[in-house]
Amino acid sequence: MEKPLLLYIFLFYWHFLNALFTVEAPQSLYTVEHGNNVTMECTFPVNGKLKFRDLSVSWEKKDELKKQVYALLKGEEDFKSQHSDFRGRIKLLKEKLNLGRSLLQITDVKLRDAGFYRCVIGYGGADYKTINLKVKAPYRTITQGVVSTGENKWKLTCQSEGYPQAEVIWQNREYEDLTDKANTSYETGSDLLYRVTSTLTIKSRIDEIFYCIFWNKELQENTSAILHIADSADGVLWTESRRFVGAILIVTASFGSVLLFILYIRKARANKDNRTPVASSSTAKLSKDKDTHDYRDASFEDEELKCKYK
Ligand SMILES: *[C@@H]1O[C@H](CO)[C@@H](O)[C@H](O)[C@H]1NC(C)=O
Ligand SMILES: *[C@@H]1O[C@H](CO)[C@@H](O)[C@H](O)[C@H]1NC(C)=O
Ligand SMILES: *[C@@H]1O[C@H](CO)[C@@H](O)[C@H](O)[C@H]1NC(C)=O
Repeated sequence: MEKPLLLYIFLFYWHFLNALFTVEAPQSLYTVEHGNNVTMECTFPVNGKLKFRDLSVSWEKKDELKKQVYALLKGEEDFKSQHSDFRGRIKLLKEKLNLGRSLLQITDVKLRDAGFYRCVIGYGGADYKTINLKVKAPYRTITQGVVSTGENKWKLTCQSEGYPQAEVIWQNREYEDLTDKANTSYETGSDLLYRVTSTLTIKSRIDEIFYCIFWNKELQENTSAILHIADSADGVLWTESRRFVGAILIVTASFGSVLLFILYIRKARANKDNRTPVASSSTAKLSKDKDTHDYRDASFEDEELKCKYK
């Protein structure tokens, strides 16, 4: 009489526990940069030691057609059903399953990986959660070109790759908008990336600067480059003069430190020999004068540099 009752109670609670089996997603949105790795997580209840043979874990991507990302059926991994989009880039951190964590790692994230993923767990009961993965590709490096096309005429080019499509805005030194004088073209390359090339044709004197700004509206991100119109001979002169000033500074600095070293030795000797303190203080003053003189020289060079840059 007692036994069937116990069984009945047990079965009742078994169904009750089954209904309570819930999968949680601690984070429902992940944003990752193209080319990086991402690890998405779901949790599920494990009471006591995990019985691997009772566990099924599945990660699916919800595209127009469902794509299998990862499957573990009754404790056995199944790579045959994996969609080719994910081949070789998926790892489930199995050691974490004991703790009730299903961690899916995607390496070298592609733009096409963006979308909604469903994390399904069967362990006694079954449940799932949906996770959104966003992939961004900032227009990080801008390749620039400045070409003379005749008397005071220039063709300025900026090129970069990213996603989604960026606008290219052109400005001059005074930040006036020159965009309507530019031509911007878009090519799609590998993995949905946009290759954006913008060309500004403009009249300008030497020593002007222009800015090209890649405005990624969706990511609310701006990257920019500064294009400097310079006579090529001028450019060489400028770098050489900078090197020259650099050499002077090095020589002055090393001369200064030698001087300080000599003074230090002298002072040490003076202290040791118990000479009159007047003499040592006068040398110290002398060295200070020398220092300020050096400093004035250096700042003068700086001024000259700034003038040249303008
Ligand atoms: C991504 O993960 C792989 C394998 O774990 C590793 O070799 C690579 O350095 C990682 N890449 C980044 C950008 O962290
Ligand atoms: C932009 O390029 C197109 C085709 O190359 C050309 O016809 C057009 O004149 C260019 N526009 C400007 C503003 O340079
Ligand atoms: C990016 O630059 C454009 C043009 O200068 C500006 O309108 C926009 O507000 C800037 N956005 C950010 C996020 O800095």
